[in-house]
Amino acid sequence: MSENTDLMQKIVSLAKRRGFVFQGSEIYGGLAGTYDYGPLGALLKNNVKDSWLKKFVHSRTDMYLVDAAILMNQNVWKATGHVDHFSDPLTEDLKTNKRYRADNLLEEKGFNVQGLSVAEMSDLIKENNVLSPDGNKLGEVRQFNMMLQTKVGASEDSAATSYLRPETAQGIFVNFKNVVDSMNPKMPFGIAQIGKAFRNEITPRDFIFRLRELEQMEIEYFVKPSEWSQHFEYWKDEMLEWMNSVGLDMKKVHDVEIGDGDRAHYSARTIDFEFEYPFGHKELYGLAYRGDYDLSRHQDGSSQKLQYVDQSEGGSEVFVPHVIEPSFGLDRTVLALLVSAYREDNIGGEDNRVYLALNPKIAPYKIAVSPLLKNKEDLVEKSKDIFGKLKSEFGNVVFDDNGNIGKRYRRQDEIGTPFCVVIDFESLEDQSVTVRLRDSGEQERIKMDDLVSYFKEKLA
Ligand code: GAP
Repeated sequence: MSENTDLMQKIVSLAKRRGFVFQGSEIYGGLAGTYDYGPLGALLKNNVKDSWLKKFVHSRTDMYLVDAAILMNQNVWKATGHVDHFSDPLTEDLKTNKRYRADNLLEEKGFNVQGLSVAEMSDLIKENNVLSPDGNKLGEVRQFNMMLQTKVGASEDSAATSYLRPETAQGIFVNFKNVVDSMNPKMPFGIAQIGKAFRNEITPRDFIFRLRELEQMEIEYFVKPSEWSQHFEYWKDEMLEWMNSVGLDMKKVHDVEIGDGDRAHYSARTIDFEFEYPFGHKELYGLAYRGDYDLSRHQDGSSQKLQYVDQSEGGSEVFVPHVIEPSFGLDRTVLALLVSAYREDNIGGEDNRVYLALNPKIAPYKIAVSPLLKNKEDLVEKSKDIFGKLKSEFGNVVFDDNGNIGKRYRRQDEIGTPFCVVIDFESLEDQSVTVRLRDSGEQERIKMDDLVSYFKEKLA
């Protein structure tokens, strides 16, 4: 087993064992491409969202948050071209009928497929006798639309067709006029949204990397057409700054300029931020200059004017704004954070331990509080008292009296809790507690009265 496969297995197993991520519908055998976040995963994911909202929405005056419906009028997806073009190249194993992404299969065999049409991929497969992973012949490559279709309402006719949105972005574009009319934003400004998106991926894989139900955090930033390039640079820096602030291993993040042949036809510049996952360098986030493509398509599709009237410089300039789109996948963030934080060591010559060096800002629990012994009433009482105070101040604090103190430390290390507070017999005498630090294992004595200010500083 390679070191990387081994690391991936350790992360998947820790995620299940410790309540971060479970297979979707597990007791029924699962549903491919779906995962459920358990108690700790849900906390971690929410902390990531909070940090994103804090940086990109709450601390700014030019960003408007929306929460649009997942189901949208089917004409939205006709106008944007998703109905005709939101597809991946599919090929089928002619014996087992298993379906594969042709581009992935060819890339794995060392072919460069960038910019190739489905016909060219079919030719490559035939000419080089590329076989399926089961060693069988593959069929012609064809485009497979990835939108998940559903019916809305009691009628079965085509008017009732809808799609589970494949990106949150369009919920923003269709609300552009509503936001402009209701909020009167000054140019430039952005609209942000966090929410679920759905893609019928041909081969969901690599744990929570490629999902059929995923979550995105997206911004559409509307600018004057002549100013797009400076805003693009600005957003690149902002994205990098946020990645660093949540604790992604920045040595594993690489920005890749997407070449002319591979960018969407309307985009003059796109960057993929790739992350070194254990299974390879893969896309983490995207930053795209989308021009006026989306607003113009929706203008045509809806016959509504989606323009901005700029009266800032005396006159009145009317234009369709251009867009810079920073797009973040939440599930890929969680996976990249787990990869960045996973550590094994043996502090003080003890047995091997596993710990998650998560940034305290996003760790599921900030502090664990324990009595040294769980059957000593006065220790338990004092511990509960301290636990209550810390919980009301810092929220995600846990009371842990399972097993002996060594086991509690190991358990909290494994879920990334940065601080453990232990109340012992001396505490009852000197009104101090032990605070144990996750990464170094070091311990300090802190006065009970100083605990809140101590953690305020540590968690700032
Ligand atoms: N609005 C632009 C857009 O949706 P995208 O590159 O298709 O662009 C944006 O997706 C981000 O969403 C990706 O960078 C990735 O983080 C995440 N993402 C896309 N497909 C995904 C999938 N099947 N599973 C998990 N995350 C996915």
